[in-house]
Amino acid sequence: QELQMNLEQIEKGGYEHFMLKEIYEQPSVIKDTYRGRLHANEGIIQMAGVEDNLEKFLNAERILIVACGTSWHAGLVAEYVIEEFARIPVEVEYASEFRYRNPIITSKDVVIAISQSGETADTLAAIKLAKEKGAFVFGVCNVVGSSISRETHAGAYTHAGPEIGVASTKAFTTQITVLTMIALRLAKAKGTLSNSDFFRYLQELEIIPEKVQEALATNEVTKEIAAKFKDSSNCLYLGRGYNFPVALEGALKLKEISYIHAEGYPAAEMKHGPIALIDEQMPVIVIAPKQGHYDKVVSNIQEIKSRSGKIIAVVTKGDTQVKELADHVIEIPETSDALSPLITTIPLQLLSYHIAVMRECNVDQPRNLAKSVTVE
Ligand code: G6P
Repeated sequence: QELQMNLEQIEKGGYEHFMLKEIYEQPSVIKDTYRGRLHANEGIIQMAGVEDNLEKFLNAERILIVACGTSWHAGLVAEYVIEEFARIPVEVEYASEFRYRNPIITSKDVVIAISQSGETADTLAAIKLAKEKGAFVFGVCNVVGSSISRETHAGAYTHAGPEIGVASTKAFTTQITVLTMIALRLAKAKGTLSNSDFFRYLQELEIIPEKVQEALATNEVTKEIAAKFKDSSNCLYLGRGYNFPVALEGALKLKEISYIHAEGYPAAEMKHGPIALIDEQMPVIVIAPKQGHYDKVVSNIQEIKSRSGKIIAVVTKGDTQVKELADHVIEIPETSDALSPLITTIPLQLLSYHIAVMRECNVDQPRNLAKSVTVE
């Protein structure tokens, strides 16, 4: 028993929970993800699984992404990035829906299956179905040698290392890193990004780990905010564009480990429903970096304020406009819109972590949840 405890403490590397350790590992694992693949100075992105099948990607009439949970959120980010950079139509589906609805899928489709564990039953079944219909299936997995990595035609590992906390953190950001690299590689082959933009994104991706490191410095402020909102029974997360999936993921993290009901919404959809929930009891977390649809998000913030909602805003360092309106701000370093999910997601992970700890929840093994769901 004692030996077991000690072993676990060693594995946690001085952190109180695996989740926190994994949140803090993100700068280094993102580097592991792009190491050997991204050569920013030479303007090269090279991933064996993509290079070997480049024609299949380039000839794809459509890319279909299938995944579950947090991986599905990474898929949504990928939809925005691939469509923007490579101009290939992308659809994202829950694997569990896809597999049972007789989907239209042909040999002209490329299917990307995203899975941390590589063992999720629904995702595996979706892959088998896509293969039967003749599609080329590409896997983005973390666990080497997992069922999904073996069942797919080709793939790219995320190299995040073992993720023990049930709530996924570093798997998410490394999935986004891989998918962004794929989008950039395809954009280069298709000529859909200008050379200068392509180079700029490569350079920016290369220094993302430093910015993630900087974003981890929000730990203290997220802890203070957590103390204020830990007894809330509801929470709303809003974001637009690339940060809409981040809002979904932020809400999922809070639900998973703190058992507070939370909903993620595209900020502009607020007026079609969630706005009715807003009162002085309702914390609303708004992702509002300077790049992107900033002005639109600011007007959403005004709408929340006029209904007395409590506003917690994730903003770019130096922001003044939102600061005036929000009850709390969390400052993150600036990056381009398309890469911002890698940064904006960090304080949301920390916020849910601290709230869960303060509520004395089992952070690493939340009730009723499993790390990998190998049954339907
Ligand atoms: C479970 C886990 C989630 C994960 C989801 C998909 O629900 O608790 O953290 O996002 O499965 O798992 P996968 O391994 O396929 O990414």
